Amino acid sequence: MPGTILVGTQWGDEGKGKATDLLADKMDIVARYQGGNNAGHTVMVAGRTFKLHLVPSGVLYPHITTVIGDGVVVDPGVLLAELAALEAQGISTVGLKLSANAHLIMPWHKERDKLAERYLGRNRIGTTGRGIGPAYADKVARLGIRVQDLLDPKILLQKVEVVLRERNPLLAKVYNRLPFDAEAVVEEYMTYAEALRPRIADTSLFLWKALRDGKQVLFEGAQATMLDVDHGTYPFVTSSSPVAGGALAGTGVGPREIERVIGIAKAYTTRVGSGPLPTEVQGPEAEVLREQGAEFGTTTGRARRCGWLDTVVLRYAARVNGLTDLFITKLDVLSAFDRIPVATAYRIDGEVTGDWPLTQTEVHHAEPVFEWFEGWREDISGVTSYGDLPRAARSYVEATEKLCSVPVSAVFVGPGREQTLLRERTAGGR
Ligand code: IMP
Repeated sequence: MPGTILVGTQWGDEGKGKATDLLADKMDIVARYQGGNNAGHTVMVAGRTFKLHLVPSGVLYPHITTVIGDGVVVDPGVLLAELAALEAQGISTVGLKLSANAHLIMPWHKERDKLAERYLGRNRIGTTGRGIGPAYADKVARLGIRVQDLLDPKILLQKVEVVLRERNPLLAKVYNRLPFDAEAVVEEYMTYAEALRPRIADTSLFLWKALRDGKQVLFEGAQATMLDVDHGTYPFVTSSSPVAGGALAGTGVGPREIERVIGIAKAYTTRVGSGPLPTEVQGPEAEVLREQGAEFGTTTGRARRCGWLDTVVLRYAARVNGLTDLFITKLDVLSAFDRIPVATAYRIDGEVTGDWPLTQTEVHHAEPVFEWFEGWREDISGVTSYGDLPRAARSYVEATEKLCSVPVSAVFVGPGREQTLLRERTAGGR
């Protein structure tokens, strides 16, 4: 079972890029399974920093083949620009395979994303404005245009005409916008088709053959559990399934191929956009977390909202993803505090619960119940083995492990590859 799924346990930006870097040596293939260019992975390799949005971070390693799976939504212009930028930095992208079933982000999706947010006013989601939600909505409404449609210009034109017959009146009459011209759109997309043609593949078949041959495949999630359309803080979520189950549907691979499901958890919590964040902090402590942790979005540059570690969320993520182990990232950021709170439960209308609430109303009423941990107040970014961490830092990690019943197998104390502290994977603990 050579499949490993990497999944964010919070609201994204946990440091999944660095986790991929840690696992890259052992992997043959890295496959993205959902999301689109709303994602932002920052990866440091050999002292160089790369910011990736759509291309799987495995592309930075010459021995890895990368796959954009069926469940991803692809803005072809953005993909080609990202590939060109990587090539210009000396990174070969020739091996990247693009699922014929992946859906395309079309110009009307981007327009609709921005318009919908404007019309929602104070109820807006705070989307990245990249057309992600409308592209997934059209996919489910069976009005989507897929990568494989690029291979047949006649079919592409027919499909675009059908969609625009429905969409153009809406844009013009409801939103007072100019209609899209089907032929102009097809002309633009055919230029992408030429460039993408050699990469278009049956990626499910490719992965199946690779797994049969014993190749190691890393399924790389974007966004995270609490942004999942089914299991996250709906409606303040993305429109796809970042949870581990999404890795299977989003690549066309069966569950028996998966051996390991690694949850990535930041040592504290952040979120971008609107929606509940029960352990959110305001004021000077939030500023310290934001500054020390450089908590500004990779994709939109927005300042991230910051909060303390929430083990109600982590336990929930452990359950819905079936986590086998956890990586804790950015522990060094907490060196700035004398005492560090960790949410162990919520108080909701007077009742204390350790479980993620049933309803959105209860989530909004949830007040965290904190346990306070002693800080370590020393720079840990140069520590190279777990045993050399200050006792208080180890207590923090081990308490997290205990509160979630999932073994912590790696702790990150900085963005560099050497700032990774591996722990023995302990049996049990699930
Ligand atoms: P969308 O994915 O652009 O539709 O945005 C929906 C929600 O997901 C918004 O709150 C975004 O800020 C959030 N989101 C989308 N991608 C990311 C990500 O990569 N990291 C963190 N939040 C994200």
